[in-house]
Amino acid sequence: MKIIYLSASGQLGGAEKMLLDLLASVRAAEPGWRLRLLVGEDGLLIERAWELGVETTVLPFPYALARLGDAGAGGPAGAQMSRGALLGKLFLSAPGAVAYIRRLRRALVEFAPDVIHSNSFKMHVLGVGARPEGVPVVWHVHDYVRARPVMARLMRLCAGRCSVVVTNSESVAADVRAVCGERVAVRSMYNAVNLRRFAPEGSTLDLDALAGLPPAAPRTVRVGLLATLARWKGHQTFLRALSLLPPALPVRGYVVGGALYQTEGSQHALEDLRRMAVQLGVADRVGFTDFVEESAAAMRSLDIVVHASTQPEPFGLVIAEAMACGRAVIASDSGGASELIAAGCDALAHPPGDAPALARRIAQLAGDANLRARLGRAGRATAERRFDHTRLAAEMIPIYHEARRQSGFTG
Ligand code: GLC
Repeated sequence: MKIIYLSASGQLGGAEKMLLDLLASVRAAEPGWRLRLLVGEDGLLIERAWELGVETTVLPFPYALARLGDAGAGGPAGAQMSRGALLGKLFLSAPGAVAYIRRLRRALVEFAPDVIHSNSFKMHVLGVGARPEGVPVVWHVHDYVRARPVMARLMRLCAGRCSVVVTNSESVAADVRAVCGERVAVRSMYNAVNLRRFAPEGSTLDLDALAGLPPAAPRTVRVGLLATLARWKGHQTFLRALSLLPPALPVRGYVVGGALYQTEGSQHALEDLRRMAVQLGVADRVGFTDFVEESAAAMRSLDIVVHASTQPEPFGLVIAEAMACGRAVIASDSGGASELIAAGCDALAHPPGDAPALARRIAQLAGDANLRARLGRAGRATAERRFDHTRLAAEMIPIYHEARRQSGFTG
Protein backbone atom coordinates (compact mmCIF):
# COMPACT_ATOMS: atom_id res chain seq x y z
CA MET A 1 0.00 0.00 0.00
CA LYS A 2 1.15 3.56 -0.74
CA ILE A 3 -0.11 6.46 1.34
CA ILE A 4 0.61 10.13 0.84
CA TYR A 5 0.19 12.54 3.74
CA LEU A 6 -0.49 16.22 3.02
CA SER A 7 0.32 18.99 5.49
CA ALA A 8 0.15 22.74 4.87
CA SER A 9 2.44 23.58 7.77
CA GLY A 10 6.01 22.36 8.09
CA GLN A 11 6.25 23.51 11.73
CA LEU A 12 5.66 21.30 14.75
CA GLY A 13 2.27 22.37 16.08
CA GLY A 14 -0.07 19.83 17.70
CA ALA A 15 -1.52 18.52 14.44
CA GLU A 16 1.95 18.00 12.96
CA LYS A 17 3.25 16.27 16.10
CA MET A 18 0.29 13.94 15.88
CA LEU A 19 1.06 13.26 12.25
CA LEU A 20 4.60 12.24 13.19
CA ASP A 21 3.29 9.85 15.85
CA LEU A 22 0.86 8.40 13.35
CA LEU A 23 3.61 7.96 10.74
CA ALA A 24 5.83 6.21 13.29
CA SER A 25 2.98 3.96 14.36
CA VAL A 26 1.94 3.03 10.79
CA ARG A 27 5.55 2.39 9.78
CA ALA A 28 6.06 0.06 12.74
CA ALA A 29 2.83 -1.82 12.01
CA GLU A 30 3.30 -2.03 8.22
CA PRO A 31 7.02 -1.79 7.40
CA GLY A 32 6.34 -2.82 3.79
CA TRP A 33 4.08 0.17 3.03
CA ARG A 34 5.44 3.23 1.21
CA LEU A 35 4.66 6.42 3.08
CA ARG A 36 5.31 9.85 1.63
CA LEU A 37 4.79 13.24 3.27
CA LEU A 38 4.15 16.31 1.11
CA VAL A 39 4.34 19.67 2.91
CA GLY A 40 3.48 23.22 1.78
CA GLU A 41 6.55 24.74 3.46
CA ASP A 42 9.92 23.52 4.65
CA GLY A 43 10.44 23.03 8.39
CA LEU A 44 11.14 20.63 11.23
CA LEU A 45 8.22 18.37 10.28
CA ILE A 46 10.04 17.32 7.10
CA GLU A 47 13.25 16.56 9.00
CA ARG A 48 11.51 14.52 11.68
CA ALA A 49 9.48 12.54 9.14
CA TRP A 50 12.59 11.82 7.11
CA GLU A 51 14.27 10.48 10.26
CA LEU A 52 11.36 8.05 10.59
CA GLY A 53 12.12 6.69 7.13
CA VAL A 54 9.21 8.48 5.44
CA GLU A 55 9.79 9.86 1.93
CA THR A 56 9.38 13.62 1.95
CA THR A 57 8.55 16.34 -0.58
CA VAL A 58 8.21 20.09 -0.12
CA LEU A 59 5.80 21.67 -2.59
CA PRO A 60 5.92 25.31 -1.44
CA PHE A 61 2.68 27.27 -1.23
CA PRO A 62 2.63 30.52 -3.18
CA TYR A 63 2.95 33.48 -0.77
CA ALA A 64 -0.72 34.53 -0.76
CA LEU A 65 -1.90 30.97 -0.12
CA ALA A 66 0.58 30.50 2.73
CA ARG A 67 -0.64 33.66 4.49
CA LEU A 68 -4.32 32.87 4.02
CA GLY A 69 -6.37 31.66 6.99
CA ASP A 70 -9.69 32.35 8.66
CA ALA A 71 -8.78 31.08 12.11
CA GLY A 72 -9.79 34.46 13.52
CA ALA A 73 -12.77 35.26 11.33
CA GLY A 74 -15.54 33.36 13.05
CA GLY A 75 -15.31 33.22 16.82
CA PRO A 76 -14.93 35.88 19.45
CA ALA A 77 -11.34 36.51 18.39
CA GLY A 78 -12.68 37.45 14.97
CA ALA A 79 -11.89 41.11 15.22
CA GLN A 80 -8.57 40.62 13.44
CA MET A 81 -9.99 40.11 9.94
CA SER A 82 -13.48 40.69 8.61
CA ARG A 83 -15.18 38.08 6.45
CA GLY A 84 -15.13 40.54 3.55
CA ALA A 85 -11.37 41.02 3.82
CA LEU A 86 -10.93 37.28 4.03
CA LEU A 87 -13.02 36.59 0.94
CA GLY A 88 -11.02 39.28 -0.84
CA LYS A 89 -7.81 37.51 0.05
CA LEU A 90 -9.25 34.18 -1.00
CA PHE A 91 -10.08 35.68 -4.35
CA LEU A 92 -6.60 37.20 -4.69
CA SER A 93 -4.90 33.91 -3.87
CA ALA A 94 -7.23 31.88 -6.13
CA PRO A 95 -4.96 31.92 -9.22
CA GLY A 96 -2.15 30.68 -6.97
CA ALA A 97 -4.46 28.00 -5.59
CA VAL A 98 -5.43 26.78 -9.05
CA ALA A 99 -1.79 26.56 -10.14
CA TYR A 100 -0.94 24.81 -6.87
CA ILE A 101 -3.68 22.22 -7.36
CA ARG A 102 -2.22 21.48 -10.80
CA ARG A 103 1.27 20.94 -9.34
CA LEU A 104 -0.12 18.88 -6.48
CA ARG A 105 -2.02 16.68 -8.91
CA ARG A 106 1.21 16.04 -10.84
CA ALA A 107 2.94 15.03 -7.58
CA LEU A 108 0.03 12.73 -6.71
CA VAL A 109 -0.12 11.11 -10.12
CA GLU A 110 3.63 10.50 -9.99
CA PHE A 111 3.46 8.77 -6.56
CA ALA A 112 0.22 6.96 -7.44
CA PRO A 113 -1.02 6.57 -3.84
CA ASP A 114 -3.70 4.13 -2.71
CA VAL A 115 -4.88 6.64 -0.11
CA ILE A 116 -4.43 10.41 0.35
CA HIS A 117 -4.41 11.48 4.00
CA SER A 118 -4.67 15.26 4.49
CA ASN A 119 -3.82 16.75 7.87
CA SER A 120 -4.76 20.44 7.66
CA PHE A 121 -7.67 22.55 6.43
CA LYS A 122 -6.00 23.98 3.35
CA MET A 123 -4.77 20.54 2.33
CA HIS A 124 -8.25 19.04 2.82
CA VAL A 125 -9.56 21.35 0.12
CA LEU A 126 -6.50 21.35 -2.16
CA GLY A 127 -6.18 17.57 -1.77
CA VAL A 128 -9.67 16.75 -3.01
CA GLY A 129 -9.15 19.27 -5.82
CA ALA A 130 -5.95 17.56 -6.92
CA ARG A 131 -7.00 13.96 -6.22
CA PRO A 132 -6.49 11.63 -9.20
CA GLU A 133 -9.71 9.83 -10.20
CA GLY A 134 -10.67 6.99 -7.85
CA VAL A 135 -8.05 7.63 -5.13
CA PRO A 136 -9.77 7.92 -1.74
CA VAL A 137 -9.08 10.93 0.48
CA VAL A 138 -9.10 10.77 4.29
CA TRP A 139 -9.40 14.13 6.07
CA HIS A 140 -7.80 14.14 9.51
CA VAL A 141 -9.51 17.11 11.15
CA HIS A 142 -7.76 18.59 14.18
CA ASP A 143 -9.74 21.80 14.67
CA TYR A 144 -13.33 23.00 14.77
CA VAL A 145 -14.62 23.75 11.30
CA ARG A 146 -17.54 25.97 12.27
CA ALA A 147 -15.17 28.50 13.87
CA ARG A 148 -13.81 29.15 10.35
CA PRO A 149 -16.66 30.45 8.22
CA VAL A 150 -14.95 30.34 4.84
CA MET A 151 -13.35 26.97 5.44
CA ALA A 152 -16.68 25.56 6.67
CA ARG A 153 -18.29 26.56 3.39
CA LEU A 154 -15.45 25.09 1.34
CA MET A 155 -15.47 21.84 3.31
CA ARG A 156 -19.22 21.44 2.92
CA LEU A 157 -18.78 21.87 -0.82
CA CYS A 158 -15.89 19.39 -0.98
CA ALA A 159 -17.16 16.77 1.50
CA GLY A 160 -18.62 14.57 -1.24
CA ARG A 161 -15.12 14.02 -2.62
CA CYS A 162 -13.72 12.85 0.73
CA SER A 163 -14.19 9.20 1.77
CA VAL A 164 -13.78 9.33 5.56
CA VAL A 165 -13.23 12.14 8.05
CA VAL A 166 -11.19 11.30 11.14
CA THR A 167 -11.45 13.71 14.09
CA ASN A 168 -9.37 14.01 17.25
CA SER A 169 -12.36 14.04 19.64
CA GLU A 170 -16.11 13.42 19.81
CA SER A 171 -16.59 17.15 20.10
CA VAL A 172 -14.84 17.83 16.77
CA ALA A 173 -16.74 14.90 15.21
CA ALA A 174 -20.04 16.58 16.15
CA ASP A 175 -18.80 19.84 14.65
CA VAL A 176 -17.82 18.18 11.36
CA ARG A 177 -21.18 16.39 11.18
CA ALA A 178 -22.95 19.71 11.69
CA VAL A 179 -21.03 21.19 8.76
CA CYS A 180 -20.86 18.26 6.33
CA GLY A 181 -24.09 16.45 7.25
CA GLU A 182 -24.52 12.99 5.75
CA ARG A 183 -22.15 13.60 2.86
CA VAL A 184 -19.26 11.77 4.48
CA ALA A 185 -18.50 9.16 7.18
CA VAL A 186 -17.02 10.65 10.36
CA ARG A 187 -14.90 8.60 12.82
CA SER A 188 -13.30 9.96 15.96
CA MET A 189 -9.87 8.76 17.03
CA TYR A 190 -8.25 10.28 20.11
CA ASN A 191 -4.72 11.55 19.76
CA ALA A 192 -2.00 9.69 21.56
CA VAL A 193 1.52 10.31 22.84
CA ASN A 194 4.75 8.40 23.01
CA LEU A 195 4.62 7.21 26.61
CA ARG A 196 8.32 6.50 26.72
CA ARG A 197 9.28 10.00 25.67
CA PHE A 198 6.52 11.66 27.70
CA ALA A 199 7.33 10.00 31.01
CA PRO A 200 7.78 11.24 34.57
CA GLU A 201 11.49 10.31 34.53
CA GLY A 202 13.94 11.80 32.03
CA SER A 203 15.89 14.88 31.08
CA THR A 204 14.86 18.35 32.22
CA LEU A 205 15.67 21.88 31.05
CA ASP A 206 16.88 25.01 32.77
CA LEU A 207 13.79 27.06 31.99
CA ASP A 208 15.14 30.08 33.88
CA ALA A 209 18.23 30.22 31.70
CA LEU A 210 16.14 29.71 28.56
CA ALA A 211 13.91 32.61 29.61
CA GLY A 212 16.84 34.80 30.65
CA LEU A 213 15.70 34.92 34.29
CA PRO A 214 17.91 34.64 37.38
CA PRO A 215 17.69 31.20 39.07
CA ALA A 216 14.47 30.84 41.11
CA ALA A 217 14.54 30.48 44.92
CA PRO A 218 14.77 26.80 46.05
CA ARG A 219 11.11 26.14 46.96
CA THR A 220 9.61 27.93 43.97
CA VAL A 221 6.67 26.15 42.33
CA ARG A 222 7.01 26.32 38.56
CA VAL A 223 3.86 26.79 36.53
CA GLY A 224 3.96 26.77 32.75
CA LEU A 225 1.75 27.27 29.74
CA LEU A 226 3.04 25.33 26.74
CA ALA A 227 1.40 26.31 23.48
CA THR A 228 1.86 27.91 20.12
CA LEU A 229 1.16 31.64 20.28
CA ALA A 230 -2.29 31.27 18.66
CA ARG A 231 -4.48 33.93 20.29
CA TRP A 232 -7.02 31.47 21.64
CA LYS A 233 -4.44 29.46 23.59
CA GLY A 234 -5.08 31.79 26.56
CA HIS A 235 -1.73 33.46 27.19
CA GLN A 236 -3.51 36.58 28.39
CA THR A 237 -5.67 34.57 30.82
CA PHE A 238 -2.53 32.90 32.15
CA LEU A 239 -0.69 36.20 32.65
CA ARG A 240 -3.76 37.72 34.34
CA ALA A 241 -4.03 34.69 36.63
CA LEU A 242 -0.38 35.08 37.62
CA SER A 243 -1.03 38.72 38.44
CA LEU A 244 -3.88 37.68 40.78
CA LEU A 245 -1.74 35.34 42.91
CA PRO A 246 -0.74 36.50 46.38
CA PRO A 247 2.70 38.12 45.97
CA ALA A 248 4.19 35.99 48.75
CA LEU A 249 3.24 32.68 47.09
CA PRO A 250 6.49 31.18 45.75
CA VAL A 251 5.31 30.69 42.16
CA ARG A 252 7.12 31.42 38.91
CA GLY A 253 5.31 31.27 35.59
CA TYR A 254 6.71 30.26 32.22
CA VAL A 255 5.33 30.82 28.75
CA VAL A 256 6.86 28.06 26.65
CA GLY A 257 6.26 28.41 22.92
CA GLY A 258 6.80 30.65 19.95
CA ALA A 259 5.01 32.00 16.89
CA LEU A 260 4.74 29.06 14.50
CA TYR A 261 2.27 29.86 11.81
CA GLN A 262 2.44 32.10 8.75
CA THR A 263 -1.30 32.74 8.77
CA GLU A 264 -2.07 36.44 9.31
CA GLY A 265 -3.72 37.78 12.44
CA SER A 266 -4.04 34.46 14.24
CA GLN A 267 -1.24 34.66 16.77
CA HIS A 268 0.38 36.89 19.42
CA ALA A 269 3.85 38.30 19.02
CA LEU A 270 6.06 37.31 21.95
CA GLU A 271 6.85 41.03 22.42
CA ASP A 272 3.16 41.86 22.99
CA LEU A 273 2.95 39.22 25.70
CA ARG A 274 6.11 40.53 27.37
CA ARG A 275 4.61 44.02 27.31
CA MET A 276 1.42 42.70 28.86
CA ALA A 277 3.43 41.01 31.64
CA VAL A 278 5.05 44.39 32.40
CA GLN A 279 1.66 46.14 32.41
CA LEU A 280 0.24 43.55 34.79
CA GLY A 281 3.25 43.89 37.09
CA VAL A 282 4.35 40.25 36.72
CA ALA A 283 7.44 40.75 34.54
CA ASP A 284 9.71 39.39 37.32
CA ARG A 285 7.38 36.45 37.95
CA VAL A 286 7.12 35.05 34.45
CA GLY A 287 9.68 33.93 31.87
CA PHE A 288 9.32 33.51 28.09
CA THR A 289 11.38 30.69 26.59
CA ASP A 290 10.21 30.96 22.95
CA PHE A 291 9.81 27.68 21.00
CA VAL A 292 11.27 24.63 22.75
CA GLU A 293 11.39 21.41 20.78
CA GLU A 294 11.97 19.12 23.78
CA SER A 295 8.51 19.63 25.20
CA ALA A 296 8.70 16.53 27.43
CA ALA A 297 11.84 17.90 29.13
CA ALA A 298 10.15 21.30 29.47
CA MET A 299 7.14 19.67 31.16
CA ARG A 300 9.33 17.68 33.54
CA SER A 301 10.91 20.99 34.59
CA LEU A 302 7.51 22.25 35.74
CA ASP A 303 5.41 21.38 38.78
CA ILE A 304 2.15 22.45 37.20
CA VAL A 305 1.21 22.52 33.51
CA VAL A 306 -1.55 24.95 32.61
CA HIS A 307 -3.79 24.64 29.59
CA ALA A 308 -5.76 27.88 29.23
CA SER A 309 -7.47 27.91 25.83
CA THR A 310 -10.21 30.51 25.74
CA GLN A 311 -12.20 28.78 23.02
CA PRO A 312 -13.22 25.10 23.04
CA GLU A 313 -10.05 23.05 22.58
CA PRO A 314 -10.46 20.37 19.89
CA PHE A 315 -8.28 17.90 21.79
CA GLY A 316 -5.37 19.53 23.63
CA LEU A 317 -2.32 17.37 23.00
CA VAL A 318 -0.43 19.23 25.69
CA ILE A 319 -2.90 17.96 28.31
CA ALA A 320 -2.30 14.31 27.36
CA GLU A 321 1.46 14.89 27.19
CA ALA A 322 1.60 16.58 30.59
CA MET A 323 -0.48 13.80 32.16
CA ALA A 324 1.91 11.25 30.63
CA CYS A 325 4.79 13.18 32.22
CA GLY A 326 3.07 12.81 35.60
CA ARG A 327 2.56 16.56 36.04
CA ALA A 328 -0.31 18.23 37.86
CA VAL A 329 -2.46 19.67 35.07
CA ILE A 330 -4.99 22.50 35.12
CA ALA A 331 -7.07 22.35 31.95
CA SER A 332 -9.59 24.70 30.41
CA ASP A 333 -12.87 22.83 30.68
CA SER A 334 -14.45 22.90 27.25
CA GLY A 335 -14.63 21.05 23.92
CA GLY A 336 -12.51 17.95 23.39
CA ALA A 337 -10.28 18.88 26.34
CA SER A 338 -13.17 18.02 28.70
CA GLU A 339 -13.24 14.50 27.22
CA LEU A 340 -9.61 13.91 28.24
CA ILE A 341 -9.74 14.53 31.97
CA ALA A 342 -11.78 13.50 34.98
CA ALA A 343 -11.71 16.85 36.79
CA GLY A 344 -10.63 16.54 40.40
CA CYS A 345 -9.27 13.00 39.86
CA ASP A 346 -6.48 13.16 37.27
CA ALA A 347 -6.37 16.93 36.62
CA LEU A 348 -8.04 20.15 37.74
CA ALA A 349 -10.25 22.26 35.50
CA HIS A 350 -11.20 25.93 35.17
CA PRO A 351 -13.78 27.63 32.94
CA PRO A 352 -12.21 28.96 29.70
CA GLY A 353 -10.95 32.52 29.97
CA ASP A 354 -11.66 32.76 33.72
CA ALA A 355 -8.41 34.21 35.12
CA PRO A 356 -9.58 34.42 38.76
CA ALA A 357 -10.65 30.74 38.70
CA LEU A 358 -7.33 29.76 37.13
CA ALA A 359 -5.48 31.76 39.80
CA ARG A 360 -7.43 29.91 42.51
CA ARG A 361 -6.45 26.53 41.02
CA ILE A 362 -2.79 27.54 40.71
CA ALA A 363 -2.76 28.76 44.33
CA GLN A 364 -4.47 25.54 45.51
CA LEU A 365 -1.86 23.36 43.79
CA ALA A 366 1.10 25.58 44.66
CA GLY A 367 0.24 25.16 48.33
CA ASP A 368 -0.37 21.40 48.24
CA ALA A 369 2.51 19.16 47.11
CA ASN A 370 0.50 16.03 47.99
CA LEU A 371 -2.34 17.02 45.70
CA ARG A 372 0.16 17.71 42.91
CA ALA A 373 1.72 14.26 43.38
CA ARG A 374 -1.68 12.53 43.50
CA LEU A 375 -2.91 14.23 40.32
CA GLY A 376 0.43 13.47 38.63
CA ARG A 377 0.15 9.74 39.39
CA ALA A 378 -3.49 9.57 38.33
CA GLY A 379 -2.70 11.54 35.15
CA ARG A 380 0.03 9.10 34.19
CA ALA A 381 -2.34 6.16 34.76
CA THR A 382 -4.97 7.80 32.52
CA ALA A 383 -2.36 8.43 29.81
CA GLU A 384 -1.26 4.79 29.92
CA ARG A 385 -4.84 3.62 29.63
CA ARG A 386 -6.08 6.03 26.94
CA PHE A 387 -3.25 7.80 25.13
CA ASP A 388 -0.67 5.15 24.21
CA HIS A 389 0.49 6.01 20.68
CA THR A 390 1.01 2.40 19.62
CA ARG A 391 -2.76 2.13 19.18
CA LEU A 392 -2.79 4.78 16.42
CA ALA A 393 -1.96 2.40 13.57
CA ALA A 394 -4.44 -0.17 14.89
CA GLU A 395 -7.19 2.45 14.67
CA MET A 396 -6.14 4.23 11.48
CA ILE A 397 -5.30 1.28 9.22
CA PRO A 398 -8.90 -0.06 9.20
CA ILE A 399 -9.99 3.47 8.25
CA TYR A 400 -7.64 3.42 5.23
CA HIS A 401 -9.20 0.09 4.20
CA GLU A 402 -12.67 1.54 4.72
CA ALA A 403 -11.75 4.52 2.52
CA ARG A 404 -10.47 2.15 -0.20
CA ARG A 405 -13.67 0.10 -0.06
CA GLN A 406 -15.71 3.31 -0.39
CA SER A 407 -13.83 4.25 -3.54
CA GLY A 408 -14.26 0.72 -4.94
CA PHE A 409 -10.50 -0.09 -4.93
CA THR A 410 -10.16 1.64 -8.25
CA GLY A 411 -7.08 3.65 -7.27
C1 GLC B 1 -4.84 21.08 16.81
C2 GLC B 1 -5.87 21.30 17.90
C3 GLC B 1 -5.43 20.71 19.21
C4 GLC B 1 -5.01 19.26 19.02
C5 GLC B 1 -4.01 19.13 17.89
C6 GLC B 1 -3.70 17.68 17.57
O1 GLC B 1 -3.69 21.81 17.05
O2 GLC B 1 -6.13 22.70 18.04
O3 GLC B 1 -6.48 20.76 20.17
O4 GLC B 1 -4.45 18.75 20.21
O5 GLC B 1 -4.51 19.71 16.72
O6 GLC B 1 -4.86 16.98 17.17
